Amino acid sequence: MAFDVQSNSMEEFWIPFTDNKGFKKDPRLITSASGVYMTDHKGGTVIDGSSGLFCSPAGHSHPKIIEAVHEAMQTFTYVAPFGSGHPLSFALAERVARLLPEDFNHVFFVNSGSEAIDTALKMVMAYHSALGCDRSRFVSRERAYHGVNIGGVSLSGMVNNRKTFPSVMPNVVMMRHTWDEDELFVRGQPERGVELANDLQRMVENYGGNTIAACFVEPVAGSTGILAPPKGYLERLRQICDENGILLVFDEVITGFGRLGDKFAADVFGVTPDIMTMAKALTNGSIPMGAVGVTERVYDVISDQAAPGAIEFFHGYTYSGHPAACAAGLATMAIFEEEGLFERAAEMTPYFLDAVYTLKDHPMVKDIRGIGMMAGVELKSNGKPGQRGGRAQSDLFWNGMHVKFTGDTGILAPMFIAEKSHIDEMIGKLTKTLDELAV
Ligand SMILES: Cc1ncc(COP(=O)(O)O)c(C=O)c1O
Repeated sequence: MAFDVQSNSMEEFWIPFTDNKGFKKDPRLITSASGVYMTDHKGGTVIDGSSGLFCSPAGHSHPKIIEAVHEAMQTFTYVAPFGSGHPLSFALAERVARLLPEDFNHVFFVNSGSEAIDTALKMVMAYHSALGCDRSRFVSRERAYHGVNIGGVSLSGMVNNRKTFPSVMPNVVMMRHTWDEDELFVRGQPERGVELANDLQRMVENYGGNTIAACFVEPVAGSTGILAPPKGYLERLRQICDENGILLVFDEVITGFGRLGDKFAADVFGVTPDIMTMAKALTNGSIPMGAVGVTERVYDVISDQAAPGAIEFFHGYTYSGHPAACAAGLATMAIFEEEGLFERAAEMTPYFLDAVYTLKDHPMVKDIRGIGMMAGVELKSNGKPGQRGGRAQSDLFWNGMHVKFTGDTGILAPMFIAEKSHIDEMIGKLTKTLDELAV
């Protein structure tokens, strides 16, 4: 794809979550992508160390997804999703439900992770309303990322994502985050889970368990730099929720579809929530789509309160279950199965984590946290949070590797199709870039 940064205007496009002025002086554009590699606008080859933004475990531009979307688009480019439908959305919901934990028999389609979170919030409200309960308090966690819509920002525990937006949902209270500065370089789950999960118990005691509607957590906090749940943490949250009629929502937008070497984090940690949000890998990143899965009980409570013939849940998006997204999702689910990609992720995990932890003694590295096919490499700050991370991200790109950074933490999340040689290449490029930064 041709693009000349000299003659094409770069002014009009307002780039999300980016230092626009800095980026436009030194743009980093991708002009094509295939498998684990991308091409930049100067013709360089860039290995994708973060699967885009955790989106593309099956590799960029997978031919089966392109073919499926093309075929769907030749059949219909749009179908109204309220009061009518098309076969692909039913087929995809059935396919996703098959992967979800037992008892999750219903799937609601949206267009992003942020919409999945807003939808989950409304499902929680509808559930308690149907039960005649007056529960309006939500529990989230410091360092949580649940997207950027008003619901997600309200639940956000990432300070910069909230501070310019004061008018968010009221009644959100925060548990402590689970990172412990005395436990650095932990591989897998840290200790001390029960004690941290007891923050929820304290909220029950402070506010009354019957005022709390739901507790939202990412099973592994992703965007904040990979914080695995400490041992016993999710189990204890589940127990407190059960004792108090609180719904437990897992935000599996990143962890869903194999990132931890099994279908969902719920399977890996053996804890089943009441509601699960998904997005990202659902279409291998090819077409925007998210989803919310709910248990039979949540679905029944919401549905059964409606009068016969009435709409059960007053919610939906113009593009819910768009044919292109459903076709991409169905092709992606087939690829996951045919190529055994969840198993492949599980097999590659020890090699990947061994490779990442070789950076442990690097003078630029403050901490490494890794679980499954994701790891956060936190750099020592230079006193200006995010500055060193921004520089590292740009330098890495020109050294031929894309990595998502949050602040000073680089987040590695290789594709599941990556070979050992790709992992070696990533760690080699990261080490070289950190060596150069250290000079
Ligand atoms: C856990 C989690 N929830 C929600 C979102 C929001 O997803 P989106 O950017 O598709 O709106 C993200 C995005 O990174 C995420 O990591």
